[in-house]
Amino acid sequence: PRKVTTVKALSESPGLSSIPSIYTFPKQTYHEPVSDTKEPIPTIDFSLLTSSHPGQRSKTIRELGKACRNWGFFMVTNHGVPERMMKAIIEVCREFFELPEEEKRGIGGKHVLDPIRFGTSFNESVDEILCWRDYVKIFQHPEFHSPKKPPSFSKRVRLVAREIIRGISESLGLEKDYIDETLNLENGLQLIAANLYPPCPRPELAMGLPPHSDHGLLTLLIQNQIGGLQVQHKGKWVNIDPIPNSFLANIGDHIEILSNGKYKSVLHRAVVNNRDERISIAVPHGPALDAIVSPASKLVENVGNPPAYGAMKYKEYLELQQGTMLNGKSCLERIR
Ligand code: SIN
Ligand code: FE2
Repeated sequence: PRKVTTVKALSESPGLSSIPSIYTFPKQTYHEPVSDTKEPIPTIDFSLLTSSHPGQRSKTIRELGKACRNWGFFMVTNHGVPERMMKAIIEVCREFFELPEEEKRGIGGKHVLDPIRFGTSFNESVDEILCWRDYVKIFQHPEFHSPKKPPSFSKRVRLVAREIIRGISESLGLEKDYIDETLNLENGLQLIAANLYPPCPRPELAMGLPPHSDHGLLTLLIQNQIGGLQVQHKGKWVNIDPIPNSFLANIGDHIEILSNGKYKSVLHRAVVNNRDERISIAVPHGPALDAIVSPASKLVENVGNPPAYGAMKYKEYLELQQGTMLNGKSCLERIR
């Protein structure tokens, strides 16, 4: 295998004013114009989702369903995860990326099922053009792993995610616990994926993350207040600005499968800038690794709505995604 340096080390090379050609994306591939829409991304007030007032809860579930249908992305406010915990986890990740190269490189394995993985680019093993991003991914559930952090942040985030997934289940007209039970979320996979995007001298030529959709069910994201995320909406890329103290949530491929395509797992990407280091922390929540996912029978019964996706074990989907050159497309296209 080729030896790839981290972007952090590269960005710190003295006098760097250009970028190596292996980081240069062809203009037409990814540099499409960005939408100037003023349409705000939907916001879900988490405290209303858990409200004991039945009217408030059902209204919020309708809003959640609408957000899943129209955007696939939404902000989550009033989630109850303390601000200091969110700040602390960003700080821990920032310190991690400051570690010496050899120390980071020595950490974890290379396979998608290795509980700790450090790397660079999007999918180092198949990428032909490298992305301006370093990352570390650490399994948090069903087994907790950590170089040094206690599990408190992940535990709190998982509670929020499970409650939103119950709401999504209900919004699809399924039992509240349908997804939870069918996909064995008691043993569901949760990981922390921390991304570092160092300043890039030629941001217009590089890509932080190529267009992709997330595996799993629901990803909750926090970031260090430096923008860079773009979401595909109505055929255009929309900039999503960070909102302090909230999570950005998006549904993943396995909600699309389970809903038989009623909710789409939306393409998103990260662009880079030449001024500020950006850190984002994605917390994906998926089925149990051994769970087999297929469209919910209640949603395919109707004539004219046959299952649009084959059944597949979550674990095997992860391996498929890691082994496939996706070229900016969703991995779902491989199982349709
Ligand atoms: C991701 O899609 O996993 C992260 C995107 C971001 O850095 O905002
Ligand atoms: Fe993502």
